[in-house]
Amino acid sequence: MISSLKIICGMTLPVLLLAGCAVNQENSSPSQSAQMSNAGNTALRASQVSQPAGWDEDLAMAIPVDINPDPDILEINLEAKITDMEIIEGKITPVWTYGGSLPGPMIRAKVGDRLIIHFSNNLPDSTSIHWHGVRVPNNMDGVPGVTQDPVPAGGKFTYDFVLRDAGTYWYHPHINSAAQVGWGMYGALVVEDPADPEEFGDELVLVFSDMSLDEEGQFLPSDTGGAFSDLFGREGGVILVNGKVKPSLKVRKGKQQRWRVINAARTRYYTIRHNRQPFIRLGGDNGLAERSETLDQIKLVPSERTDFVFTPQDEPGTVDWLKWYPTERGYGSTFNRFSEEMMEVVTVNEPEVLPESIPTELRHIEQIDVTGAKELLIDLTIVFPDDNTVEMGINGIPYWNSKPLEAQIGETHVWTVRNDTDFNHPFHLHGYFFQVLDEERIPEWKDSVDIPVHTELKLAVSFDERPGTWMYHCHILDHAEVGMMGTLRVSP
Ligand code: C2O
Ligand code: CU
Repeated sequence: MISSLKIICGMTLPVLLLAGCAVNQENSSPSQSAQMSNAGNTALRASQVSQPAGWDEDLAMAIPVDINPDPDILEINLEAKITDMEIIEGKITPVWTYGGSLPGPMIRAKVGDRLIIHFSNNLPDSTSIHWHGVRVPNNMDGVPGVTQDPVPAGGKFTYDFVLRDAGTYWYHPHINSAAQVGWGMYGALVVEDPADPEEFGDELVLVFSDMSLDEEGQFLPSDTGGAFSDLFGREGGVILVNGKVKPSLKVRKGKQQRWRVINAARTRYYTIRHNRQPFIRLGGDNGLAERSETLDQIKLVPSERTDFVFTPQDEPGTVDWLKWYPTERGYGSTFNRFSEEMMEVVTVNEPEVLPESIPTELRHIEQIDVTGAKELLIDLTIVFPDDNTVEMGINGIPYWNSKPLEAQIGETHVWTVRNDTDFNHPFHLHGYFFQVLDEERIPEWKDSVDIPVHTELKLAVSFDERPGTWMYHCHILDHAEVGMMGTLRVSP
């Protein structure tokens, strides 16, 4: 066994035990592989085989048509409209869509490309598009009343900006957003880095969401449950992966896949597992983290993204499930709740292959220098003006009464985001990436982060460019709707 492994891997056993079966022999940096494989000395390596035929067919998302011949410009027409779809079997749901598909078209470009979107609104209501996490110029940020006028029913707007950062992003409306996102308005935006190592594997983009439907497939009113639901947030009873209930994915044992996962749900937190098989996390919101990390489950709060390598370990010929597990996010969030099947994972009947080794060191993340930084307190607050009303705010002030925070171009801030309420809040800042000041975490750039109950986090952010008024808010959209939002004015 030892000698056969030596032959396969060209490394000695102790190194193998520590580092997994490293295939790239030139790579002398530490590496992690999912797990020791017992594939034996005749096994192929993951890079020598393809994914199973039709592996991701059931999860395919619409691809937009590029009307611009320039390879560095992606120019598309995008129409918001209501489209009838069969979400639950035999019932028709009038889904609010981008481009008639759910999720909206998957926009994929490479870092440095220019994106031009000719948007037209054929919905019965005003809307807009916010490019979540993308460092756009302020007037492209898609916030009605702050960065642009609402795009009225029948109206148009052209979004035009350069994709400066690789990463996994998404787009959604920023008006009546708890309702509109809940009705289907979201899509993925992937910005590729052509320099990413090939070992990360074939890419699968997964958009998680949920819908609140009655038995006839009609949307429940967006104020269902009243103040209690404002407080808890509305989790839809129907869990969707790329717009489908329990879609199916084909894998081959040992053949890695790179999953880019987006939580596009209004409120639902996702903790996902597949038989406790290892996920090698590469990064999240704004591209690669400094180091990879092996986890046996992934947690995604609303609007967050995770990018990881999945190494299938089920036996050939078996079928099992990727499952959702309840996440503790405050009062009543896990009590009497159970796991749910999200996506079928079919392990094809092909011999297993030896997983490729995934590098540990991924990217150098320059630490923001916080000496002399301006300190601000962002206290996430909830009050009950009467028995039937919940009002949320920042430092006790709901959005509609708030005044902008002030920053100057060139300033660095440290924001203490405090949560003394009984529910977690996923905090999101528009326009700038931040770093969480926490030694325990692997350094990475974020735009959305969970603030658990009765805790606080310190976030460092540099306002180095792009003046304008930017939003920050809780991304439980029901919370944002009842006031947990504010603005930040970055002056030149
Ligand atoms: Cu995902 Cu203010 O947005
Ligand atoms: Cu919240």
